[in-house]
Amino acid sequence: MCGIVGHIGEGNSAEILIEGLKRLEYRGYDSSGIAVLEGGSLSVDKATGKLANLTAITDHKKYSANIGIGHTRWATHGGVTHANAHPHMASDKAVVVHNGIVENYKELRAELQAQGHEFASDTDTEVIAHLAIELAKTINDETALLKAIIARLDGSYAFALLMTDFPDCLLVARNASPLAIGIGEGAYFVASDAMAMSSQTQRVIYLKDNDYAIVRKNEALIYDKGDQCANREEVIVSANPGLVSKGGYRHFMEKEIHEQPDAIAHTLSAMTDEAGTLTACLSEDELKNMTGLVMLAAGTSHYAGLVGRYWIEKLSGVPVTVEVASEYRYRAPVTSHLSHAIAISQSGESLDTLMALRHAQDEGLKSIALVNVDHSTIARESDFILPTRAGPEIGVASTKAFTAQLTVLLSLAIALGRAKGVISAEEAKERHEELQKLPSLVGKCLSLFEPLRPIAHELSKARSCLFLGRDSLFPIALEGALKLKELSYIHAEGFAAGEMKHGPIALIEDGLPVISLLGADALSQKVISNLKEAQARGAKIILLAADDVADEVDFASDVCRLPNCSEYLMPFILTVPAQILAYLTASEKGTDVDQPRNLAKSVTVE
Ligand code: G6P
Repeated sequence: MCGIVGHIGEGNSAEILIEGLKRLEYRGYDSSGIAVLEGGSLSVDKATGKLANLTAITDHKKYSANIGIGHTRWATHGGVTHANAHPHMASDKAVVVHNGIVENYKELRAELQAQGHEFASDTDTEVIAHLAIELAKTINDETALLKAIIARLDGSYAFALLMTDFPDCLLVARNASPLAIGIGEGAYFVASDAMAMSSQTQRVIYLKDNDYAIVRKNEALIYDKGDQCANREEVIVSANPGLVSKGGYRHFMEKEIHEQPDAIAHTLSAMTDEAGTLTACLSEDELKNMTGLVMLAAGTSHYAGLVGRYWIEKLSGVPVTVEVASEYRYRAPVTSHLSHAIAISQSGESLDTLMALRHAQDEGLKSIALVNVDHSTIARESDFILPTRAGPEIGVASTKAFTAQLTVLLSLAIALGRAKGVISAEEAKERHEELQKLPSLVGKCLSLFEPLRPIAHELSKARSCLFLGRDSLFPIALEGALKLKELSYIHAEGFAAGEMKHGPIALIEDGLPVISLLGADALSQKVISNLKEAQARGAKIILLAADDVADEVDFASDVCRLPNCSEYLMPFILTVPAQILAYLTASEKGTDVDQPRNLAKSVTVE
């Protein structure tokens, strides 16, 4: 998946496109490029690698075009090469940027090659430009042409097409991949998200699936899949946040780790009504109507759901299943005992999660979006929104969005437990008060950078390591392992500590680092036994533990002490040192912390 941007009208297109791409780089950073139409000719500049490689070229050129398109790529079809970077041009007359996958590109390519078209890349995208040239031989109306192009495409797409034959418009379309149109003063914009246009306009129209549009400098004519003119609502998105800066930190990730107390506090206040009651943004009736939940998510958000299941089932008695979105969407799930589906997504744009949510909606479940971006596709398509208030998260590895998601899920568990009468109003109040102390507890954990540094130094030499936890700390072990592997590229796996003896213990060999998450809770003695079993076989125990139980693991090689707190807050408190350890280990190894290889922040392809 990728990010696309387009501009037509007042303003210098190249500058506007580059500015938009800076805000879209979270969607991919394998390569980037822009194409503009000047003096009747198309010109394309592109570069592999980070956007800085493109700006190193564009900064030295003079552009005056008032129409253009741009792209930042996360490679799907075709390697990370200059030729595969977008925009893709055909016959010097059509140029396209695309996000998604054209699933029938092989057939189309063969057909177009048979018609004499020569391809310059291995991408699925390039067929769109050649198809446009081919179809334009017989169709000379831009709307009819666009309609004819999308009639030939299978798969998912959001694309913007610029053609010399139609120099005063952009031809855009979306199916499954997001696309928004921005309305400016004497100019229109298109982009994969509103943020990319936020320095130009706050007035945004979100295209719906199968919409297509002809965008000119003073109008956007939008059509639905039945080819009828569609009046899509214009929304005002929140003010331009500016390009988010690192604020004096070395990396966005480091900054975002430090922002967690605020992210949690803001999210908690969004979960609380004016009377000070924790409602999780849902009415008493809606909470009472919740009889069973399925949570749908990917990556780190999936692990937030796994923690939420422990809390919700324990505090409210409501059954919860948590599903990897990419699996759920193709299953025939049994939903008769369920009432609601919750899509958990920082971006609100992960295609797998969106499709899983639609699948659940088709099964008759009410939908809830637990998202960090209010106007995201998942938010717009859901019946209810439970917002995280983490602010823009730029580091590809999620940190503050994760703890904000946990804050929402614990709030929901408490509100649901109270509404269902499983916990008393007093207990709900007590849990809420406990939760209000969380920002300051998490704040205390931020002092762990220095104590964890020598541990990270040693860990950076490891080839592999394990994370162990139990109960609601098991998903934190999964998240800790994910953070370490995605940032430092060290192989890491998370296991439920009690499951070790059923197989994973075979992995233990002399000196294998085992990062052990330990709370002062009912299962702590059992976890300590599990750790002892690992240590007896040569594991090097690196202990992250609540102060009260830390001394009981006298066989640990390294100990990181954490503030004591209730079992419900422990997953938050253990997340922070796991994040810091991953961050420091990656820094030791010199990997790209904010933009790890092969990853993207928001994945809008299957
Ligand atoms: C990508 C990111 C992960 C993220 C996942 C889900 O894979 O690299 O960090 O957890 O998508 O993203 P979402 O925006 O849906 O939470």
